[in-house]
Amino acid sequence: MRMRKKKNLPQRMEKASGVLIKTPEELCGKWRETFPGYEALHVELGCGKGSFTSGTAAAIPNAFLVAVEKVPDAMIMAMEKAVAAELTNVRFIDMDAAKINEIFADGELDRIYINFCDPWPGKKHAKRRLTAPGFLELYKKALKPGGEIHFKTDNRPLFEYSLEQFTECGWQLSEVTGNLHENGPVGIMTDYEAKFHSEGVPINRCVAKKAEEA
Ligand SMILES: C[S@@+](CC[C@H](N)C(=O)[O-])C[C@H]1O[C@@H](n2cnc3c(N)ncnc32)[C@H](O)[C@@H]1O
Repeated sequence: MRMRKKKNLPQRMEKASGVLIKTPEELCGKWRETFPGYEALHVELGCGKGSFTSGTAAAIPNAFLVAVEKVPDAMIMAMEKAVAAELTNVRFIDMDAAKINEIFADGELDRIYINFCDPWPGKKHAKRRLTAPGFLELYKKALKPGGEIHFKTDNRPLFEYSLEQFTECGWQLSEVTGNLHENGPVGIMTDYEAKFHSEGVPINRCVAKKAEEA
């Protein structure tokens, strides 16, 4: 996503800093004791402008949601939405998803959301896709047995590739659809999703579950 540089980013970051985790490595293995009282710990990778983040945190108040985004110019908009909505169960981390195991201990997570990640077309860049086998191994470590990845994309080739990787890497697929909103809007839409849906682009979705005994 090409995001225009925000002129007053440092000031805006400071103002919304109540929802920012600056040193997330220090919380590795300690998320539940640091933020007690929640039934589940969820992570969203590549939250972008964060409509899904705030919508989901509001809709699932018994889960603590950590949104990860590597572009601060996008993340600030997501942070400001969460602050405006006065959400207490969401925090943001400015980081690459590839570092997920540095901030979450093995089995610490219940769920990971991946929404409209960059498709990285072409074999040369395939390993950069957030559903490439290398990333799936990282997620498997961080998720508890039976933990889930909730995946949405507009990109049909990426979806087919991802279904293949999930299956080959031993994840159990469910809720697989190539047209999520066929009978009217379902669930909380992301910013990209709302745009694609308004243009009539079908949305693909699936849930991939880590084996219970793994
Ligand atoms: C196409 S946008 C989708 C944003 C949002 N999920 C949505 O659906 O509206 C992809 C987002 O993922 C972020 N992203 C891509 N690769 C990432 C990575 N390795 N780690 C963290 N964020 C990443 C990008 O900066 C961008 O904001």
